[in-house]
Amino acid sequence: MNKPDMDRPEVILIAAMSIDGFIAPADKESLPSTTWTSKEDWHFFTKKSKEIGTMIMGSRTFETIKKALPERRTVVMTSQPERYAEFNDPNLLFTAESPEEILANLDKEGVKQVALCGGASIYNLFLQKNLVNKMFLTVEPYVFGEGVKLFNEKIEKRFSLLQQTKLNDSGTILLEYST
Ligand SMILES: NC(=O)c1ccc[n+]([C@@H]2O[C@H](COP(=O)([O-])OP(=O)(O)OC[C@H]3O[C@@H](n4cnc5c(N)ncnc54)[C@H](OP(=O)(O)O)[C@@H]3O)[C@@H](O)[C@H]2O)c1
Repeated sequence: MNKPDMDRPEVILIAAMSIDGFIAPADKESLPSTTWTSKEDWHFFTKKSKEIGTMIMGSRTFETIKKALPERRTVVMTSQPERYAEFNDPNLLFTAESPEEILANLDKEGVKQVALCGGASIYNLFLQKNLVNKMFLTVEPYVFGEGVKLFNEKIEKRFSLLQQTKLNDSGTILLEYST
């Protein structure tokens, strides 16, 4: 298992996806995931991300929310942080830093864990750099055929299943993996 290093926070990837591995259907890419995910997944995400306290996401995912989620800090990755000057909120940080720089800065602040909240380009970036320690994947009982893939670049990595939980009677499954 990829144990958390002493010099960076543990990175916990959290995503909801369809049975065929899409994190957004083609016609809902600019809408929040809650337009198709279950309320049980939303409860899980809210509880887990509050417990972790710090979230990292890409600007396109932030654009689907457009605000800080309560009781959590959000680090938004963008090449143009100045574009977000209007968001004057201490719980929002817009940065062009690399994943390593972001994690090193959070480590200096004493942050022990971060929730990696997407989208695909951010999941890929951290996984390609071998910076993901754990994954929580909620599989919603849909097939989309087209949309945003959970991972959109070639990568081969093995994970160990730690736990599987059925979240509701519609068949939503929560999978917990470690690297
Ligand atoms: N189901 C789920 O759990 C879930 C979770 C999250 C997101 N989503 C979905 O995923 C989709 C968005 O995914 P996406 O891959 O298109 O976009 P994304 O990963 O949310 O954001 C991409 C943006 O992040 C910034 N970025 C990427 N790499 C960077 C780097 N190395 N340094 C600085 N900034 C960087 C860039 O912002 P700039 O263009 O501003 O430079 C880039 O355009 C949406 O449809 C969303 O609903 C689903």
